[in-house]
Amino acid sequence: MYVSMKEMLLHAHENNYAVMAINCVNMEQAKAIISSASEEHSAVIINISPRQMKAHGHPEILAPMIRDMAERVMVPVAFNLDHGSSYEDIAYAVQCGFSSVMIDASGFEFEENVRRTALIASLAHGKGLSCEAELGHVGMANQQDNIKTDLYTNPSQAKEFASRTKCDCLAVAIGTAHGSYPKGFVPELDFGRLKQLKETLKMPLVLHGGSGAGDENIKKVVESGINKINVCTDLFKHGRQAMADAIAKNPDIDYMDVNMAAEEAMKQFIKRYMRLIGSSGRY
Ligand code: G3H
Ligand code: ZN
Repeated sequence: MYVSMKEMLLHAHENNYAVMAINCVNMEQAKAIISSASEEHSAVIINISPRQMKAHGHPEILAPMIRDMAERVMVPVAFNLDHGSSYEDIAYAVQCGFSSVMIDASGFEFEENVRRTALIASLAHGKGLSCEAELGHVGMANQQDNIKTDLYTNPSQAKEFASRTKCDCLAVAIGTAHGSYPKGFVPELDFGRLKQLKETLKMPLVLHGGSGAGDENIKKVVESGINKINVCTDLFKHGRQAMADAIAKNPDIDYMDVNMAAEEAMKQFIKRYMRLIGSSGRY
């Protein structure tokens, strides 16, 4: 089923679990994601960022393909523009047939973030799409000073933000970051703040930077109110490693078999993650 994120995230919110949102740039990844979701009886969100779209994604080809693949399975599948920032990128995603968009104006001050988000939420809702927004700021894992507590999401500000913008789900900053953390580093997350955000907002909450946070942290964020977890780096690493291993094992391996090795490794990773965050067996 090809759907927006709205209903699936409300279901996750009401039943205290989270749905994976996985970045995808090609057919092999889309196949791995959708078949994992189908086999796990889980909802799933396929993400693509503007950078990924421009570098390799071809959204005008990916969107109809993902829609077609989604319509062949019984579980809900959404296609979401991840970290959309310019109006042009977001309008293009809408035109290509995405079922959801994220407007990330978290780099702007509060009023400007509200203004930009409200505009995109109204555009998205008018077309039947869901809209994700971000308040506070989730930085990059390789820039430690970006994981600053003063960039964490403020609960009372978040309440005002959600009611003024009408976003369907909100990405919050509680200590995770995008990309690979330094070796051995496990982020310390602000679970108290997360619980307060959930109690105040009573809506689906999103965690960005789902890679490398550690199983315990991930289980605990779900218990504390996260309903969508974005994962990119770890999935790409699993696919790349499987390709490297397959080539090392047999330098003459067929190109198709290299892709299939990556697809299988990504599936194993996704299915395990779905069980960890409680989305398996819900559909
Ligand atoms: O929006 C994408 C994500 O937040 C992915 O972060 O690469 O750290 O998993 P990650
Ligand atoms: Zn992100």
